[in-house]
Amino acid sequence: MKDKLQQLKKSAMADLEKAKNAEALQDFEVNYFGRKGKYTFLVKELPKLSTENKKNIGRLANEIKTEIQEAIKTRQVELQSERLGNFAKEEWIDRTLPGEKPRVGHLHITSQAIEEIVSIFTRLGFVRRKYPEIEWDWYAFEALNMPASHPARDEWETFFIDLPVGKKGKIVLTPHTSSGQVREMESGKLPIRMMNISKTYRRQSDVSHTPVFHQFEGLFIDKDVSIANLKGVLDYFAKSFFGEGRRTRLRPFHFRFTEPSFEIDVSCDVCGGIGKLEDGLKCRLCKEGWLELGGAGMIHPNVLKAGGIDPKIYNGFAFGWGVERTFMMKEGMKIDDIRLLYKNDLRFLKQF
Ligand code: DAH
Repeated sequence: MKDKLQQLKKSAMADLEKAKNAEALQDFEVNYFGRKGKYTFLVKELPKLSTENKKNIGRLANEIKTEIQEAIKTRQVELQSERLGNFAKEEWIDRTLPGEKPRVGHLHITSQAIEEIVSIFTRLGFVRRKYPEIEWDWYAFEALNMPASHPARDEWETFFIDLPVGKKGKIVLTPHTSSGQVREMESGKLPIRMMNISKTYRRQSDVSHTPVFHQFEGLFIDKDVSIANLKGVLDYFAKSFFGEGRRTRLRPFHFRFTEPSFEIDVSCDVCGGIGKLEDGLKCRLCKEGWLELGGAGMIHPNVLKAGGIDPKIYNGFAFGWGVERTFMMKEGMKIDDIRLLYKNDLRFLKQF
């Protein structure tokens, strides 16, 4: 019995060495101390021994049990530190932690609209140009057939810069992108298919105006250009930007720099250009079926002359509109105050 106990201890210690994880340790315990375990099995024989032996061997059995159990604890600690050691080596990045998402921003809606407009007109062969935003009165007004004291100038509530008047007049913050027209003509290259997109400045602020806004200007000069060409370009834009179902119409108007002049309207997407809803009520967005996009017309001969182009050989058309307004006319926008675009309120901007 004594030998059997010593042998059991030996094999137990060897088995313990072989246990490589917590699960194996558990198996080990069952294997030795469970109901049918090796140790349990052996001590069942104790009662059969003589009283003297029972005492001695009983004590030995107890000692061996304690030793093995101590060894189990030691092995447990060993295994754990082994595991943590490997963990520190192999798992220095804790892949179970929730990741930190970088905040991804996006372009401002005005920039998005500009990109989209540019890509549409690029397909038609228009080339984007950049012209000064601090400009001579000459390019902003005079060369556009608006002499110094002409009352039409009042419509462009212009910011003037307090500097001495030069050969080309006062200096202004461009109140419209039409100031790029004559600058482009001065480049001397013909034919012209230009787009000028830029910040524009006017002294006004309300639900449909901000003092700084953006305009898009198109300029097309060639031989034998007709209003039909203008209409074709505008239709292409309206369908590409607003949707296949949208139409444009030209409404007679007056600008000093075009003759004839038009306002461009785009059919309303809420009522489909009828002005009435199915229930017979007036469309709440447009009231008459059309939304105003901007101005257009056939370039006035005086403007061509100011740009050094002979109006007997060349003619063309021009058009211009506000970028923010155009964006707000997109389907389903329902932005009722243009100033929201520049309040930097992320709750608003994140929606686009
Ligand atoms: N510049 C005009 C404005 O700011 C818009 C405009 C009208 C531009 C007619 C044009 C044009 O090129 O032909 O109101």
